[in-house]
Amino acid sequence: MSSSSPVRTEAAEAEPLLEVVDLTVQIPTAKGLLRAVGGVSLSLSPGETLGIVGESGSGKSMLARTIMGLIPPTAEVGGEVRYAGADLRSMSHRDLRNYWGKEISMVFQDPMTSLNPVVRIGRNLTETLRTHGVADRRTAKGRALELLAEVRIPAPATRFNAYPHELSGGMRQRVGIALAVACRPQLLIADEPTTALDVTVQKQVLTLLDKLQSEHHMAMVIITHDLGVVTGSADRVAVMYGGRIVETAPTATLFAEPRHPYTSGLIASMPSIDNKPHEPIPVIPGSPRPVIDPVGCTFASRCVRAQATCLTQTPELTGPDPAHQFACWFPMGTEEGDRVEAENRAAGVTAAGLRLDATSPSPASPTQDNERAVTGAVS
Ligand SMILES: Nc1ncnc2c1ncn2[C@@H]1O[C@H](COP(=O)(O)OP(=O)(O)O)[C@@H](O)[C@H]1O
Ligand code: SF4
Ligand SMILES: [Mg+2]
Repeated sequence: MSSSSPVRTEAAEAEPLLEVVDLTVQIPTAKGLLRAVGGVSLSLSPGETLGIVGESGSGKSMLARTIMGLIPPTAEVGGEVRYAGADLRSMSHRDLRNYWGKEISMVFQDPMTSLNPVVRIGRNLTETLRTHGVADRRTAKGRALELLAEVRIPAPATRFNAYPHELSGGMRQRVGIALAVACRPQLLIADEPTTALDVTVQKQVLTLLDKLQSEHHMAMVIITHDLGVVTGSADRVAVMYGGRIVETAPTATLFAEPRHPYTSGLIASMPSIDNKPHEPIPVIPGSPRPVIDPVGCTFASRCVRAQATCLTQTPELTGPDPAHQFACWFPMGTEEGDRVEAENRAAGVTAAGLRLDATSPSPASPTQDNERAVTGAVS
């Protein structure tokens, strides 16, 4: 299967709400074209939740913003974005405005992005409702108060008159969510919605998003660097690295049987209550780097399995199960993959020059106790 084959599961067999086909985003830099998104295809049905996971710099926000039509003016974009059959990529900003808020909405990591600091939150909400024609002068305030209550803001009538800086981070994010769902969109894209919040508030905000998603039968894309965030809410997960989807599967399958070494490493590096005190949590060595003219597997420089093939040939998303696809020449759970990893370890170095020693973290084995990640606490 080519990288442009849409990522789909049985759950996505219904008419797709969102279809992204072979989306590319390249950004001109002094050194050449930087590949921020390198041929991403995905499909989302009404009411479905897709988690997109990857470390910082893997292209998640660029993908989300490009789906919305919010791209840097210098970016070179290719591929298709279809919403309910409409070609969003060919639309002007003016036409896209008919979709933003009403059909597709976004929750940002920093709610200050969506909240005007000099506008009271009540006015922000009433203006949003009136601009989109979902309330008029007479009904807007009542509806705004209902929305504040819906996102569990205590004492909505008092908060209505507050400025964003007068609220805590968690409360601001709730207001950001209220704004995003005010016009009852069909698709909500939440880009790191809980990253700026402390753990307890993270859980509350995720629970709120889940509740709104199921009550309003919205499709949701939840984007995060933290696998723990998607465990409770996503039907399926797409793992991004170097601007591409490197593995996608139903959530439980991904945790139980990760096939890409990067996914495996991400799962192994999740904190767990099972971790023994003073026992270090394995980390994937290195960090994702922006790529110009990528050749081969972009994870190769960090992968304990890397072989010569990985440096010259780009693995495409494939796999015997259409619902579980991965882009790797030597996947987890294969004898050949295990053998090349053992050979690299014996040699003390990979084909990409990564030095290995006895303490080099191994990706978790596919059958390791990854169920904890599915049922475990959101970290
Ligand atoms: N406005 C921009 N101009 C130039 N490069 C950008 C811009 N935004 C993001 N990038 C680059 O694109 C890549 C992907 O970034 P991003 O989508 O923000 O990653 P993530 O959201 O996964 O952390 C990174 O290498 C980043 O440096
Ligand atoms: S084994 Fe090769 S193809 Fe697979 S992730 Fe490692 S470097 Fe990439
Ligand atoms: Mg981001």
